[in-house]
Amino acid sequence: MGEKELYAIGEIPPLGYVPKKMHAYVIHPEHHGPPLQSMKPEVVDVPDIGPDEVLVQVVTAGVNFNGVWASLGQPASPTRFHKHPFHIAGSDAAGVIWKLGSAAKSATYPWKVGDEVLIHCGMTCGQCPYCNGGDPMLCREQKIWGYESPYGSFAQFTKVQVQQLLPKPANLTWEESGCYMLVHATAWRMLYGHPPHTLQPEMNVLVWGGSGGLGSMATQIVRAAGANAIAVVSNEERGKWCLDLGAKAYINRKNFNCWGQLPPVSDQAAYGAYVKEVRKFGAAIWEITGKGVDPDIVFEHPGAQTFPVSCFVANRGGMVVFCAGTTGFNLSFDASYVWMRQKRIQGSHFATLYQADAANKAIMDGRVKPAMSEVFEWERIPEAHDRMMNNVHPSGNMALMVQAPRRGLKSLADIGN
Ligand SMILES: NC(=O)c1ccc[n+]([C@@H]2O[C@H](COP(=O)([O-])OP(=O)(O)OC[C@H]3O[C@@H](n4cnc5c(N)ncnc54)[C@H](OP(=O)(O)O)[C@@H]3O)[C@@H](O)[C@H]2O)c1
Ligand SMILES: [Zn+2]
Repeated sequence: MGEKELYAIGEIPPLGYVPKKMHAYVIHPEHHGPPLQSMKPEVVDVPDIGPDEVLVQVVTAGVNFNGVWASLGQPASPTRFHKHPFHIAGSDAAGVIWKLGSAAKSATYPWKVGDEVLIHCGMTCGQCPYCNGGDPMLCREQKIWGYESPYGSFAQFTKVQVQQLLPKPANLTWEESGCYMLVHATAWRMLYGHPPHTLQPEMNVLVWGGSGGLGSMATQIVRAAGANAIAVVSNEERGKWCLDLGAKAYINRKNFNCWGQLPPVSDQAAYGAYVKEVRKFGAAIWEITGKGVDPDIVFEHPGAQTFPVSCFVANRGGMVVFCAGTTGFNLSFDASYVWMRQKRIQGSHFATLYQADAANKAIMDGRVKPAMSEVFEWERIPEAHDRMMNNVHPSGNMALMVQAPRRGLKSLADIGN
């Protein structure tokens, strides 16, 4: 096979041969807007790698909300974080190691060119006290690959740190493999990473957006621990998806009217009406858990619209753990419920390699499934993001074909090398 400067999408170069150019979806800072407007197919140079970096041929990728934020340039253009003139989004991928830097070594996983891998999106410095004995997510250099770094997975090649690699589960197809890691590891840390509020058998966990990316994984993690997931959704079809994933029950949030900013506590009429409505929502939880039994953990990410309710319904001594504010960052809550009932409000962000590895093992042994929904071809990557932005995407995790020539394949040999 001849060695070329540029390969077509789905055409695999000889193993280890790095072409000069690659196809990529590129976001330019002057074109921020909805994904259909801002994510444009272009040919760019394949990035160089440093001694501790790895070049990965991207076989499949996943859709995450940060691709929407990167397109919109909200809350800021990713190019402001990484100072590169353009941005390639994509924070999930399955692929093949194509080139290893001279210092890119892992004692746990002795990687070599040709290995089939997943990528987790947590970049760290590797040198600081947090990275060596502490919590690497507290590293000052911590970044999300494909959001705060310029070369994400919506391209034929991406570059990552060696500690971002995990083995691809051999029993999964390429598209299943590429779609789950970001949300799965995030959910894993939210539920296991904040002791002593860690997931235990019999606990009740309220999962907002139960059929979404995070929610689909959280629901399964809760179930695998022998605990009860109570999923919140916006329609019955999504509720059924959650039941299939092992939720104990679901609640349709459209049947309640207690969303948005907390009314002023001093406005007795408005506040009283609000609390009455929140109690109705609480009663719907009690119908599932038993009278007076509140959720031990509230798995929160919608933000402004739901946060006051999350803080209200969490159990005494329980935890509201949140990793996003999709509907707004101005979170409000009635402080008296939080201090008098001694609740914990805990921010959480992605995961460490340790947590991503534990989460991946749960996939490998079948405790948790990738919850893959729809598979999109390369040409439809912006459309998949547009659907997510408008909350009309299918339940679970969407997968994206990059170099995978067709669906259902599992190995490097399958994709033609
Ligand atoms: N910090 C981190 O490390 C991290 C990691 C992953 C994701 N995130 C963030 O977490 C958020 C969710 O990500 P995702 O991948 O799970 O997205 P997703 O697949 O779109 O799921 C989000 C779910 O939220 C629900 N939702 C939408 N509007 C809502 C509202 N007004 N009230 C209550 N629920 C609402 C939707 O379910 P219903 O409409 O059916 O209720 C939807 O399924 C995003 O902002 C993302 O950027 C952060
Ligand atoms: Zn560090």
